[in-house]
Amino acid sequence: MAEILVERVAKSFGDKVAVKDVNLTIKDREFMVLLGPSGCGKTTLLRAIAGLGMADAGRIAIGGRDVTYQPPGQRNISMVFQSYAIFPHMTVRDNIGFGLKMNKVDKSTIRKRIEEAAELLHIEELLDRRPSAMSGGQRQRVAVARAIAMQAKVLLMDEPLSNLDALLRLEMRAELKRLLADVDATTVYVTHDQIEALSMGDRVAVMRDGEIQQCDAPNTVYESPTNRFVGSFIGNPPMNFLEGNIKRSNGQTAVEVAKHEFSLTPETQSLIHDLPGNKVTLGIRAENMETLLQPTPETVAVNVEVVEPLGAQNLLTVSVGGHRLKVSTHPTLEVATDQVLHIRFPANQIRWIDPTTNNVLYTP
Ligand SMILES: Nc1ncnc2c1ncn2[C@@H]1O[C@H](COP(=O)(O)OP(=O)(O)O)[C@@H](O)[C@H]1O
Ligand SMILES: [Mg+2]
Repeated sequence: MAEILVERVAKSFGDKVAVKDVNLTIKDREFMVLLGPSGCGKTTLLRAIAGLGMADAGRIAIGGRDVTYQPPGQRNISMVFQSYAIFPHMTVRDNIGFGLKMNKVDKSTIRKRIEEAAELLHIEELLDRRPSAMSGGQRQRVAVARAIAMQAKVLLMDEPLSNLDALLRLEMRAELKRLLADVDATTVYVTHDQIEALSMGDRVAVMRDGEIQQCDAPNTVYESPTNRFVGSFIGNPPMNFLEGNIKRSNGQTAVEVAKHEFSLTPETQSLIHDLPGNKVTLGIRAENMETLLQPTPETVAVNVEVVEPLGAQNLLTVSVGGHRLKVSTHPTLEVATDQVLHIRFPANQIRWIDPTTNNVLYTP
């Protein structure tokens, strides 16, 4: 069992708070992704779990054992660094076996583990070559093979694909996912790439400014973000946000955006009625609006500013009363710049957001 428990962990560098009071429980054999923009504290948190760079406060336990004050060598972890950190002058075989040799594992076991790891990563034919004469993708495989050969209970990976070109990343992403499903380790995987996070993680912890904003299954962080930041960081394009004016009369509440009145479901009525001030934010994803050529009583007229054909969809940038929205449409719908279109916002696709806290109040 290698559940990882992170309790109130904090770390600063001088005045800069890198990780702020983070709590996180990673289940045995779970694939947890730490996702967030550059500088949000992902590497710092991963290093704290690894025991590289002591946390200022908090507690870390691995497999039920408190490791807060233990050095990396005693935590039963192995790590893949963003830079790979493999030795260019050593053969691939010696690189993969390096940690095992350091741990004084016997020679025949080392040989066996090197061969198994190399086979898993399809680099058997590279074993006697040196990384200095290899491509980025091959070096990346060597780094992963080395980490896997350790057979540690915890595998920590810091942006392992970020040095690869786009096509290779895509390929390695699926390959790593397949491979790690067969490895018996609890994995913590750091990335700033939201697609990578959604596609690989059992759960995704979305970080910002040293704090975890939300930690949920990929579908949940995509469909039900807890706040505006998560909605805009996840998804390409980001979720659309519209500022609505609240109109209260005779105990009834309605919301108006660009002169269009949204009628509210009973659940949202009371939530929005109780909001202070007259503003509420609506969040809706590009693929969740309906685009019509003719108006209906439920639609809002918008002006098409940009049409981006993306193959499987057309991505439109449309404007309405000072708002800009991204709307995705089926490629068979012929649309031209400056055309007027009519958009319906299905009630069951709108997230209602408190504009003061930016927290999502209601997800249908
Ligand atoms: N060794 C360090 N010295 C000073 N500041 C650091 C150091 N390491 C990280 N930081 C700062 O802490 C913050 C978080 O960094 P990091 O954990 O590397 O972010 P991420 O991995 O999410 O990009 C950043 O503002 C970074 O500049
Ligand atoms: Mg980092």
